[in-house]
Amino acid sequence: MARRYVIAGNWKMNKTPAEAKALIEELKPMVAGKNGCDIVICVPYVDICTAVEATKGTNIKVGAENVHFAESGAYTGEISAKMLTECGVEYVIIGHSERRQYFAETDETVNLRTKAALAAGLKVILCVGEVKEQRLSGITDEVVSMQTKLDLADVSAEDMKNVIIAYEPVWAIGTGLTATPEQADETCGVIRATLAKMYGQDVADASIIQYGGSMNAKNAAELLAKENVDGGLIGGASLKAPDFTVIVDAAQ
Ligand code: 13P
Repeated sequence: MARRYVIAGNWKMNKTPAEAKALIEELKPMVAGKNGCDIVICVPYVDICTAVEATKGTNIKVGAENVHFAESGAYTGEISAKMLTECGVEYVIIGHSERRQYFAETDETVNLRTKAALAAGLKVILCVGEVKEQRLSGITDEVVSMQTKLDLADVSAEDMKNVIIAYEPVWAIGTGLTATPEQADETCGVIRATLAKMYGQDVADASIIQYGGSMNAKNAAELLAKENVDGGLIGGASLKAPDFTVIVDAAQ
């Protein structure tokens, strides 16, 4: 079953609007015409207008790094899905482990955000992944399967066309430690099997499952070659245009 690779950068809390513009201008010619995969950059809220403007007419799509679940209201500091779509945002990362770890994000709020984003027409990059102690205890499969089920509760099979799952082992994020291609393939396969139980084999086969966690110019090709790895969610290496381009090239 042919699935299209999606290579997405997660800029995290990096780049001012001026720096964002400079990075996008550097990246544009490097990835121009490379249409063998979808290319997405998920940027801080304040960089969204700059990014949407700078990527107009290119093969680079823009995403946000989070979204609130309410349509509007007294949620100081938060941003709604409609605010994002009106700015030209197409994708949004939800449930990143840094949100879960530092901002008290739970599977329940991840699920609420996912449903709100899908209802507004956004494509969701839903992050799941185990922490180091869970991998060492041998419960990785249970953890990612439980997160997948809880985070996608009440999401329809039809809406799954707009959901990408990013498998990000927490111990591999920003640490330089990468899951081996075999580990990435195996756990992405567990997520796919969970989707098959929830939605049937066709939806599972069509779903895009990315790997994230210290993916870089050196290891991307090996990871992307694996059957169940349909792309990458890239932190550090997405901040360097040449490195991000090598990963895009690996997905052609
Ligand atoms: P690094 O690529 O910097 O490890 O970050 C991965 C990540 O968290 C992407 O969402």
